[in-house]
Amino acid sequence: MTRARLLIDTDPGVDDALAILMAHAHADIVALSIAAGNVGLGHTVRNARVLKDLVHGRFPIHAGCATPLVRAPDEDAAQVHGADGLGDVGFPEPAASAEAEAAALALLRLTRERPGELTLVALAPLTNIALALRLDPTLPQRVRRLVVMGGAVTGHGNTRSLPAEFNIGFDPEAAHVVFEAFPAFDLVDWELTLRHGFVDAEFDAWLAAGDARARFFAKVFGTARAYNARHDRSGVVAADALAMAVAIDPTIVTRAETRAVAIELDGRLTRGMTVVDWNGRSGCAAQARIVLEIDQARFVALVRGALGAH
Ligand code: BDR
Ligand code: CA
Repeated sequence: MTRARLLIDTDPGVDDALAILMAHAHADIVALSIAAGNVGLGHTVRNARVLKDLVHGRFPIHAGCATPLVRAPDEDAAQVHGADGLGDVGFPEPAASAEAEAAALALLRLTRERPGELTLVALAPLTNIALALRLDPTLPQRVRRLVVMGGAVTGHGNTRSLPAEFNIGFDPEAAHVVFEAFPAFDLVDWELTLRHGFVDAEFDAWLAAGDARARFFAKVFGTARAYNARHDRSGVVAADALAMAVAIDPTIVTRAETRAVAIELDGRLTRGMTVVDWNGRSGCAAQARIVLEIDQARFVALVRGALGAH
């Protein structure tokens, strides 16, 4: 398997951190573009810099939009990821810096420099990618693949508003722009994430066996773990890690269905819902390959490798 070359749009975030460790271990990171989401942009950019220091990365970091495209968000995810987005560990000021070029402009430039080469991995609200699309609607023609962590295709979701998943619910307008513009993409949704968690004791054994990356993750994971325990959620679920597995190795997908998927913007109860046309009644082109199952053993191997727990 040739190593995927990745543009990662992310809002680190604990599961984003694990995904970035996976990307560093198993693929080539071309750049990180940073969104607001789990916590504010100041924190997510700083967290990306902390991660770059950890892995001695050579990739650039581009800060993006501090707010969603249209409406202020109803909520962030600090209760899961910590007030600083990385478990409130209190990391010292990182040495790595962010570039001056804005995320949306970097996405456009890098895909122009390497047309057809780069896999775009969306692990955050889709604000930066939507803005890039509004600046240059030909972006999809230059992207090799798009993998989106987002949505709740059976309407469970993980936000306070009933059917929405966090990344889509935070900026539904941006998701709408992206879902309309890309003719084909892989969708890794929240409900798939819940079906592909790790057993707590096994995950702890990987953390104990791993190297500095595992020790880092053990520290930042505390807040999220406590949140899960408070919400009777057993096992380790890591949405962005799962999407990253699909980005690194598309053959890890063992079951998928391609359907038209749209984003609800106005619903009284359903703003931010990913509306799936399961029965092909809309007449819209089916653009989303909804991942329904992946090879769990290979997912485990990718995560263990990223933690140095071989
Ligand atoms: C998504 O929302 C964020 O909290 C996570 O980082 C992930 O990208 C899961 O719904
Ligand atoms: Ca994320």
